[in-house]
Amino acid sequence: MRLQIARRRYFQCQHLYRVEAWSDAENSKEFGPCFTPNGHGHNYAVDVYLEGEPDPTTGMIVNLAEIDATLAKILEPIDGHHLNFEVLEFSKDVPTTENIARYLWRQWQAVTSDWKAQMVQLRLYENDDLWIDLWRD
Ligand code: NI
Repeated sequence: MRLQIARRRYFQCQHLYRVEAWSDAENSKEFGPCFTPNGHGHNYAVDVYLEGEPDPTTGMIVNLAEIDATLAKILEPIDGHHLNFEVLEFSKDVPTTENIARYLWRQWQAVTSDWKAQMVQLRLYENDDLWIDLWRD
């Protein structure tokens, strides 16, 4: 038997898709409406899935307050920001849903390395009909 707890948070970012080395025409051809000079915003949702054994005393895999504090910490640098212009990682990595999901995975791992409960999946929604899933190998 495996147990997982999942938590969702909402945040908002602006971005645009552009490869620096490409011409505007090349970027426009590849990225279409995602290549815009100043960018555009999305309302994202992220789901984190943590797996572990419930503590025999508390009955919890991990205290929800710790999950919430960690999500707040990793989302704070990007929530309400323009990813290309304000977040260092995305000055070189195109801020696709894929790359934002990988960024959030790395940030989570960096601050939860001492946790017994492990993140086994992260789902990032750009819209309610588009999302990316990452799983632990
Ligand atoms: Ni977009």
